[in-house]
Order: sequence, then structure tokens, then C-alpha cells
Amino acid sequence: MHTGTTLTQFIIEEQRRTAGATGDFTSLLNDVVIACKAISNVVNKGALLGVMGSLDSENVQGETQKKLDVITNDIMIRSNEWAGHLAGMASEEMDEPYAIPGQYPLGKYLLVFDPLDGSSNVDVNISVGTIFSILKAPVAGRAAKTEDFLQPGAQQVCAGYAIYGSSTMLVLTFGHGTNGFTLDRDVGEFVLTHPSMTIPTETREFAINASNMRFWEKPVQRYVDECLAGKTGPRGKDFNMRWVASMVAEVHRILTRGGIFMYPKDTKDPAKAGKLRLLYEANPMAFIVEQAGGAATTGRERILDLSPEGLHQRVPVILGSKTEVDTVTGYHHEKAA
Ligand code: AHG
Ligand code: MN
Ligand code: MN
Repeated sequence: MHTGTTLTQFIIEEQRRTAGATGDFTSLLNDVVIACKAISNVVNKGALLGVMGSLDSENVQGETQKKLDVITNDIMIRSNEWAGHLAGMASEEMDEPYAIPGQYPLGKYLLVFDPLDGSSNVDVNISVGTIFSILKAPVAGRAAKTEDFLQPGAQQVCAGYAIYGSSTMLVLTFGHGTNGFTLDRDVGEFVLTHPSMTIPTETREFAINASNMRFWEKPVQRYVDECLAGKTGPRGKDFNMRWVASMVAEVHRILTRGGIFMYPKDTKDPAKAGKLRLLYEANPMAFIVEQAGGAATTGRERILDLSPEGLHQRVPVILGSKTEVDTVTGYHHEKAA
């Protein structure tokens, strides 16, 4: 049995520290957490519930939707639409923002999410997750418009992810540190198991989908070449490589033991600036990583400083141990000089 701080207690203590807090945010976060527990349950039961495999539909990104993409999106919506804390929601799986149904009150926050990150991995039983970001609505109590969501990541009130791995964890930041909680299924509560997570500044591990190597820009080519050259190369040390194809799993590994994750700009499809989406993948992860002492850039700019132009905008992502991210970002600037 656990004796530690529960997530419920942690959130309420945070509320007590926040001047003028009404409890709205606490209650909203609680509903997000309940959705993550429900998603953990469906993902965990998997084939027993007949939820594996794909649908015939595509999402706005042109990606084939998994049954679980749709189910988990629905869980997030149902859990968060009714309580009156939100002016709107936006998700990877919905072309347009989700309008809160008329029978429910409108609130002062916006919720943006990727309900199932790494969903190509669900059929093969590899870790997946849910990523979310909470923003203040520009106008409280008014149905949110697309423009309302287009806020720089630096304005996030809270960001988090749940990872459905060998254990289910929730990792969270309110802007003063990053904390990790593990789900105790017997009690039904997340318990603080990883207080003040800190990314080591130095690392010998990088993560990138190397099948795209021929499409990378020179600075990324150079960085990876130097890692691969190992002890006798310019870096003077051997590196290890990982690629899970679930951003949540990569970020979680980096928060735990350091490393760098890159989904950089490439020339594979010139219409796309990167693969990952700014509002519900890059921004929340950048906030979490920075709050754990790491860095997150596009190679050229800090991710949290970007001004979003569209709900489903893609950006290059380079994040993790600060020294390594600074090195890759430095190579981009050298090229520009
Ligand atoms: P999603 O399943 O939400 O579409 O996200 C998948 C993302 C990300 O989690 C992962 O890092 C990346 O796509 C993997 O891309 P590749 O298949 O190109 O390696
Ligand atoms: Mn994703
Ligand atoms: Mn997804």
C-alpha cells in the first residue's frame, strides 16, 4: 500500500499556493486525470475489448485512424465537456475545435490534446500515451474560436502526459518543476513517485528515426554523424541510439535518464515543416522538458516562443538534455551564419 502524496493532494496543495484560485483548475485537471485512468484501462485491456486495429477513416493529418484513436478521443471529450471549466477543446483527432454542447456551461480554460500518442504501437503492445496542454481562454465563458488556441507555448498554464507502459504514469508541470506520479491500480490513485524530475545535462543517448537520414538538413546530419563516430570522433565518446516511435516513451526515457530526441525538419515532404504537431505534442512536451532542466527547440528557435499559425501546425522538434540540444541548435545557427 502506498503512503505517499496522491495526485489529488498534490493538485489541491498547488491550488492553495495560487493566489485567487477558485478550484476551477483543480477540478478541470481532476477530470483530465480521470480520462487518463479510463484510457489506461482500455489500452491495458486491449484485444479483450476488441479495440485493436484500424478504422477506414483518416484524421485531418491524413493518417489512418486506429479504433483506439477514436475511443480515447471520445473519453477525453466526455470526461471534460460537462463541468463548466472549458471554453473549448482541440485534438489531433478533430479537424476543428470541439464546441462544448449547449446544455453545459462555458468556462475560462482551453484543453488541447493528443488522446493517443504513438498509436501505431498499440497493436504491437508498445508504450503509448496521452499528451495534454491547458491554456487560458482569451475570453472566459465564450465558445472558443480557432484563433483562441493559437497561443505561444510559453502561455500554457499546465502541460502533462500519461504514459501507458509497464506501469501507468502521469507527468505534469504547472510551470514550477516537473513531477511524476505512478498509478496504483488497487487504490485507483496516482501517487507521487518521481518528485522534481531533472534531466541530466550530459548524455550519450540519442533518438531519431534514422530511416529519414537522407532527407535531413546538414546540421542534423552532422550531429548524428558525430555521435555515430563515437570515441574516436569529435565527441570523444560512444553514443547509444533508441527509437520507440511513441514520443511519450522517448520523452519519458529522457526525463528519467537523459538523452536527446529529434524529429527534425526534413525534405521528405516539402509541404510539412516537421512531423510533430505544435499545439498538442511539441508545446506540452517542451514545457515539461524545460521545467525538468532540459531544452526544446526547432533547431532554430525555442519551441515555447513560437506563435502558432494553425491548430494542426507541424514543427521540427529537438528536445532533451540541454548540452546536446544546444549543440544541435548551435550547428543550425552556424549553418545560417
Ligand atoms: P501519433 O500516434 O499521435 O500520430 O504520434 C506519433 C508520432 C510520435 O509519437 C512519434 O515520435 C512519431 O510520430 C513517430 O514517427 P515515425 O513513424 O515517422 O517514426
Ligand atoms: Mn502523437
Ligand atoms: Mn495521436
